Amino acid sequence: SKIRHYNFTVVIKNFTRLCASKPLVTVNGKFPGPTLYAREDDTVLVRLVNNVPYNITIHWHGIRQLRTGWSDGPAYVTQCPVQTGETYTYNFNITGQRGTLLWHAHITWLRATVHGAIVILPKRGVPYPFPKPDHEKTIILGEWWKSDVDAVMNQWTQTGLPPNVSDAHTINGYTGLVPNCSTSTGYTLHVEPGKTYLLRIINAALNEDLFFKIAKHEFTVVEVDACYVKPFKTDTVYIAPGQTTNVLLTADQKAGKYLMAISPFMDTIVAVDNQTATSTVQYKNTDAYTTTILTTLPAVNATPATNSFIESLRSLNSAKYPALVPLDIDHSLLFVVGVGVNNCSTCVNGSRVVAGINNVTFVMPTTSLLQAHYYNISGVFTTDFPGKPVTPYNYTGNNSLTNIQITNGTKVYPLEYNSTVQVVIQGNSVIAPESHPIHLHGFNFFVVGKGIANFDPVNDPKKFNLVDPVERNTLNVPTAGWTAIRFRADNPGVWFLHCHLEVHTTWGLKMAFLVGNGKGPNESIIAPPKDLPTC
Ligand code: C2O
Repeated sequence: SKIRHYNFTVVIKNFTRLCASKPLVTVNGKFPGPTLYAREDDTVLVRLVNNVPYNITIHWHGIRQLRTGWSDGPAYVTQCPVQTGETYTYNFNITGQRGTLLWHAHITWLRATVHGAIVILPKRGVPYPFPKPDHEKTIILGEWWKSDVDAVMNQWTQTGLPPNVSDAHTINGYTGLVPNCSTSTGYTLHVEPGKTYLLRIINAALNEDLFFKIAKHEFTVVEVDACYVKPFKTDTVYIAPGQTTNVLLTADQKAGKYLMAISPFMDTIVAVDNQTATSTVQYKNTDAYTTTILTTLPAVNATPATNSFIESLRSLNSAKYPALVPLDIDHSLLFVVGVGVNNCSTCVNGSRVVAGINNVTFVMPTTSLLQAHYYNISGVFTTDFPGKPVTPYNYTGNNSLTNIQITNGTKVYPLEYNSTVQVVIQGNSVIAPESHPIHLHGFNFFVVGKGIANFDPVNDPKKFNLVDPVERNTLNVPTAGWTAIRFRADNPGVWFLHCHLEVHTTWGLKMAFLVGNGKGPNESIIAPPKDLPTC
């Protein structure tokens, strides 16, 4: 294994999209940012230099950070932000992981433009468990706002009204054709007939689940969230913010141009950016004036398409890549997640939208949880995060707001080192039933079950898949339904769990697990690095 050095300098640069130019916060002047390449078991050092007038941190989404929580990145969870003019070096090993992940800013809404791919190749000489592709391409899906993204976020804190949706989607930074504005077709994937391409697809959007499709072509899905899956074929990929999906694409059609496009999924239409972002798959030796062959994407509320995609995902579970699903459970938790409202005298209409888990809206502390834990600083958090709803109710029924009397708190749920955890994440329908992409830092988990309506603790566990459930780091809670996950708490530190729809995170749909040290020699969190920022 090798040591890989990267320099990430955060700078402002102007970009033009949707007929207007605006300054973006970027890493190294790139949108999307640079790709971080490594191999399994390498050590990565990223020197972050902050040259913008905002505080920043970077999260390596899906990297386990075994014992190195100091490099995980969420602001006020594992570190204080890196201030303007300051530098911090993230230093971590990629132990036992290979595949596609993403890195992104983890403070305010800066990840709208501060994000990029992480590509981890298998160890030298170790093949993929699927036919070797001829080429590999990274496809990053994102969103574009005409206004300043910070202003969009502040809309909530200042007015109490939900913020605007984005003005367009992007594929590798481009919107594609925009009527009366841009005639550029955006990103082009050039292909050679007969060749196979590994597409590393990343949803880096802030607030929208997406469908991804290429006209007349089928994909073979081989990996999600840097975990191999049993290969299956589909013509549409469903991918939520924070998720990554690797597919094989064979250029098996006749020469020509084929539309590659994304569109949003939202089963209960609250507010959605309906713009389809387009790009092109172009075969070698295609005449420049050839018309592009089009395709139709699923409808914005095509819930069955999302379910069939998710239900097709299974761990590869081979001798080489076994699915080590915990069978005995030490902590069995039920997290009811959703959006609600809080009364607020200073807000427009006297109330504001909030979100929570088990009726707790998580309030960010002013120093990092991990520093408070490590140095035993009291008064920063409490360890009484409820493992079950305090007052159970009919979560997916027609409920009144009294069921979501939301309280504020900075509460963590403590776990002993190496204990096993099951979390059933239940969506509520109190204001609006919505799907939630829930991300857990520091671990991969197994998705052992899912269902609609309320979780039945007696009968539903009998149907759990404990043999080859998909392993990942960001799950999908279906609208007005539930998803069950299992993991082993073998990573000491403080680990954030939150909805990866940034609007829900901002509203408080987040919490943290605190995993204690083990007794063995390599079971404690390492000492904090010397340059760790202070608050
Ligand atoms: Cu990709 Cu805590 O996020």
